[in-house]
Amino acid sequence: MIILENVNKSFKNVKVLNNLNISFEDKKITVVIGRSGEGKSVMLKHIVGLLRPDSGRVLFNDIDLNAINKKELNELRKKFGMVFQDGALFDSINIFENVAFPLRQHLKLSEGDIIKKVMSGLNDVGLSGIESKMPAELSGGMRKRVAVARAMILEPETVLFDEPTTGLDPIMSDVINNLIISTQKHFKYTGIIISHDIEGAYKTADTIAMLYEGAIIEKGDAEKFKTSDNPVVRQFVTGSMNGPIVI
Ligand SMILES: Nc1ncnc2c1ncn2[C@@H]1O[C@H](COP(=O)(O)OP(=O)(O)OP(=O)(O)O)[C@@H](O)[C@H]1O
Ligand SMILES: [Mg+2]
Repeated sequence: MIILENVNKSFKNVKVLNNLNISFEDKKITVVIGRSGEGKSVMLKHIVGLLRPDSGRVLFNDIDLNAINKKELNELRKKFGMVFQDGALFDSINIFENVAFPLRQHLKLSEGDIIKKVMSGLNDVGLSGIESKMPAELSGGMRKRVAVARAMILEPETVLFDEPTTGLDPIMSDVINNLIISTQKHFKYTGIIISHDIEGAYKTADTIAMLYEGAIIEKGDAEKFKTSDNPVVRQFVTGSMNGPIVI
């Protein structure tokens, strides 16, 4: 179980996470929604130890990420797959090697097995035949899909997706959402997804949580969000410019 406990984080004098408390259930998909700039990516970076809280704790299976050294943190990171918001790929190696990278880093597989896994991973995200291209030759959406394939290649315990469908066309968004659902059913990872896409959240999430002003203001299933009487939640899910959220 991943738990953020009373996490506070400021940059200069701007408070981003404000006594944030949230837990992510094992082997379930939690989608965190919230407006741009609310601190969703900052929250995700705390979970993988890329950022440290000013105060509060981040617990991964009862291990406090702040209490372990760099080597232990690196070991722990092997259990995570992460899709960064910008779909960060290694620019100087081709798509095949990008997706193969975690396999080469962490497993001792034959070249034949690596080829099989990479081809199957790329096929899953609708990208067969682009193995020899360089990241710069792909569209933003294609890069994002490669990042999804790479994050899942080790079948990690936990997969974090920072806006996996933003910038994709609606059909490809559906492909990625379905891929998240099917792979989760297949290897039962704990999924944490950041998204603005409320329809996608309804489809993929076991639990939805909304981050607002640095804390979670609503958490529950799709039905809870559809029927929420919290005016902030209602404004967000209906996408209205009228409501309590200051634009
Ligand atoms: N490393 C950093 N240094 C300084 N400020 C930062 C840093 N990272 C994030 N911030 C600030 O923290 C706030 C939240 O940023 P964050 O990237 O988490 O937003 P977000 O909710 O992911 O937004 P979006 O939906 O647009 O991706 C922003 O005001 C941002 O400028
Ligand atoms: Mg973000």
